[in-house]
Amino acid sequence: MLEPAGQDLLFREARSHNRFTDQPVTDDELRALHDLLKQGPTSANCSPARFLFLRSQEAKLKLAPTLSSGNHDKTLAAPVTAIVAYDPRFYEKLPKLFPHNPDAESWFTGNDSLAATTAFRNGSLQGAYLILAARALGLDTGPMSGFDNAMVDELFLADRGWRSNFLCNIGHGDPAGLFPRSPRLDFDEACVLL
Ligand SMILES: Cc1cc2nc3c(=O)[nH]c(=O)nc-3n(C[C@H](O)[C@H](O)[C@H](O)COP(=O)(O)O)c2cc1C
Repeated sequence: MLEPAGQDLLFREARSHNRFTDQPVTDDELRALHDLLKQGPTSANCSPARFLFLRSQEAKLKLAPTLSSGNHDKTLAAPVTAIVAYDPRFYEKLPKLFPHNPDAESWFTGNDSLAATTAFRNGSLQGAYLILAARALGLDTGPMSGFDNAMVDELFLADRGWRSNFLCNIGHGDPAGLFPRSPRLDFDEACVLL
C-alpha cells in the first residue's frame, strides 16, 4: 500500500493548476511521463490515446486561437501543453498490443460505433493516467476542455487522423494561482452499496 504521503501527492494535496513557475519540463521528463502512464490499463490493452506535447512558442501560438478566453493566457504561459488525443483507428495496433488474441483487431473493423466508444473511453482513462503519472513524477497539471476540438483536430491532428479529447498544461505549479479547493461529494451522495 502507498504511504499516506504518496496518497497526498497523488490525490489529497494535488491540485489543478492555473499558473506555473519558470522551471522547465524537459523532454526526458516527458518521456518518463509517457513511460509511466502507458502502463495504466485499457480494454484489450488497446492504448488509443496519443499525445502531442507543445513546448515551443510557435506551437503555442498555433494553439492560441482554439482556446477559450479563460484558458488562453495560462496556456500560453505554461511550460508544456499536452493535446490528449486518441486514434480512431487504434485497433490497427492490436496485433502488437494484444498478441495473444489474433482476432482482436476484427472486433472493431466494420464496427465504427464500438471503435469510437472504445477509443474515447480508454483514451480518457489514459488522460487521467497522464495526470496521476505527472503528479507521481513531481509535476503538476491543469487539464482543460475549454477549447475548440474541431479546430485543434484540423490544425494539429488531421494528417494523422487522430481526434482531440482534452488539453493539459504541465509544469511546476505556482500555488499563488490556485482557487480554494472545491468540496467533493460525500460517500452517500456518490456511492451505492448493494
Ligand atoms: C477534463 C477536464 C476539463 C477541464 N476543463 C477546464 C477548463 O477548460 N478550464 C479550467 O480553468 N479548468 C478546467 N478543468 C479544471 C477543473 O475545474 C478542476 O480539475 C476541478 O475544479 C478540481 O480542481 P482541483 O483539482 O484543484 O481540486 C478541467 C478539468 C478536467 C479534468
